[in-house]
Amino acid sequence: MCFRFFFFFFQVASGSKLVSGSMRKNPTLICVPIMGESVDKMVVDMGKANASGADLVEIRLDGLKNFNPRENIKTLIKESPVPTLFTYRPIWEGGQYDGDENKRVDVLRLAMELGADYIDVELQVAREFNDSVRGKKPEKCKVIVSSHNYQYTPSVEDLSNLVARIQASGADIVKFATTALDITDVARVFQITVHSQVPIIGLVMGERGLISRILCAKFGGFLTFGTLENGIVSAPGQPTIKDLLDLYNFRQMGPDTKVFGIIGKPVGHSKSPILYNEAFKSVGFNGVFVHLLVDDIAKFFQTYSSNDFAGFSCTIPHKEAAVKCCDEVDTVAKSIGAVNCIIRRQSDGKLFGYNTDYVGAISAIEDGLRGRLNVSGGVSSALAGKLFVVIGAGGAGKALAYGAKAKGARVVIANRTYDRARELAETVGGHALSLADLENFNPEDGMILANTTSIGMQPKVDETPIPKHALGHYALVFDAVYTPKITRLLREAEESGATIVSGLEMFIGQAYEQYERFTGLPAPKELFQKTMAKY
Ligand SMILES: *[C@@H]1O[C@H](CO)[C@@H](O)[C@H](O)[C@H]1NC(C)=O
Ligand SMILES: *[C@@H]1O[C@H](CO)[C@@H](O)[C@H](O)[C@H]1NC(C)=O
Ligand SMILES: *[C@@H]1O[C@H](CO)[C@@H](O)[C@H](O)[C@H]1NC(C)=O
Ligand SMILES: *[C@@H]1O[C@H](CO)[C@@H](O)[C@H](O)[C@H]1NC(C)=O
Ligand SMILES: *[C@@H]1O[C@H](CO)[C@@H](O)[C@H](O)[C@H]1NC(C)=O
Repeated sequence: MCFRFFFFFFQVASGSKLVSGSMRKNPTLICVPIMGESVDKMVVDMGKANASGADLVEIRLDGLKNFNPRENIKTLIKESPVPTLFTYRPIWEGGQYDGDENKRVDVLRLAMELGADYIDVELQVAREFNDSVRGKKPEKCKVIVSSHNYQYTPSVEDLSNLVARIQASGADIVKFATTALDITDVARVFQITVHSQVPIIGLVMGERGLISRILCAKFGGFLTFGTLENGIVSAPGQPTIKDLLDLYNFRQMGPDTKVFGIIGKPVGHSKSPILYNEAFKSVGFNGVFVHLLVDDIAKFFQTYSSNDFAGFSCTIPHKEAAVKCCDEVDTVAKSIGAVNCIIRRQSDGKLFGYNTDYVGAISAIEDGLRGRLNVSGGVSSALAGKLFVVIGAGGAGKALAYGAKAKGARVVIANRTYDRARELAETVGGHALSLADLENFNPEDGMILANTTSIGMQPKVDETPIPKHALGHYALVFDAVYTPKITRLLREAEESGATIVSGLEMFIGQAYEQYERFTGLPAPKELFQKTMAKY
């Protein structure tokens, strides 16, 4: 897909409320929906919206109790520190108003006459509305004609027809919102947005549509919505204005900003966007890092095939399937059969897959051992010759076993299903153990233990793959998870005198590697440590 870019500068037509544009790399506005039940509450929220950096507010009249149109609208316009958009959404378009249609449209006309900067008119009534205004529209008021689809996202052709219909109905600004059943639905909306000859708002509702609300700044959307608080939204999937500005660096996005993201399902909990965006910002790297809730990774890569989508982290459950999506994978990823980092080469668009999980984990473990032995540097790994026990033969277990072996450790795999353990042990060249035998496994002291199973995960927090009394034989115990930072296993290991390394160090370690591949720049290690310490 080729994203050609047509740029529209469309000023906020509101005299003294002109948005100052010095720091911005895009003209896309951020609108905060205001949905109070009382005018007083709305006025308070408009103040908060302004303080948060909003360009305008959308006043949702359909949520007001005891609505007195002329008086209330006057007050709202007078009290708003930023330009106003008035919306009076009927039930038949997903809003709350269920009264007389003529009265509703009268209220919108009134808002226009009283000095609203924008009004939102639904496509179904737009022509009628235009006729009723009969050319008496105040110069400064712009009409947004909107259409909502709460079921799905139509084809590009159908969307183009919709946009043409909206345009022909007398719209100054075209708005359509559809529903994402799959993240690839959003690509069609970007395509329409990029090619639009009129100011356009194209948003896709739902968690799978989140990127439409962030990347519209790159693709030339007229505005996006950012809420004041988490979860208090006027449409499903809206981010907060704080996230748009601070997390995604919304104002710094431009047509040439590269998109990076973490592919997973679920993915909303991932801290990667915080980590990478903060680092991008610190060096002025022209990229944005987003959550990508992906159901079908092959379809994702077929759809987002342009160079704009430049690099990806990949997590559960897609690490194995990701291998097939890449044109080439490195030898480690190939042997493990899992990829956690994908780079699109900008010269030819080819996808390269890597596995940096193991690098992060292994170097965190090496650091832990060096700290314990008080040796620095050295040519050989601190793991060389050590007995390395991995619990679990899944993706993470495989990566660790492979990585430890490559560093010269003697590897033992313990799995509840002995056959699984044996299979992996044969592949990497190690020994197998059933989980039941782990308790009495103590050929020597100073061993290393790595837990990669879900035993002890919420809600079964009282389970453990190895009893505490058996931990005394281990010099170092590692856990692959970073929430919670200290698991039961790590707590008991520490009490038994072992050095502990948590998944947080592994997460940061693999992030260094990925960052360098994403940007071609050295990772800001201290910033990574500092950012993660906050969460
Ligand atoms: C709006 O926000 C700006 C920037 O934070 C601030 O300087 C200004 O005083 C605010 N205006 C009002 C009316 O609160
Ligand atoms: C809207 O109204 C104006 C003035 O009455 C008219 O010139 C224009 O053609 C109308 N537009 C549409 C799409 O009906
Ligand atoms: C570790 O090394 C540092 C100097 O590099 C030294 O000051 C410290 O005493 C050593 N600790 C142990 C336990 O040997
Ligand atoms: C055993 O290995 C399988 C993968 O082959 C993995 O899914 C499972 O979590 C492991 N279980 C235990 C208890 O080691
Ligand atoms: C073992 O590791 C998993 C994550 O891989 C973690 O959820 C679990 O809590 C750990 N088990 C214990 C007993 O700490």
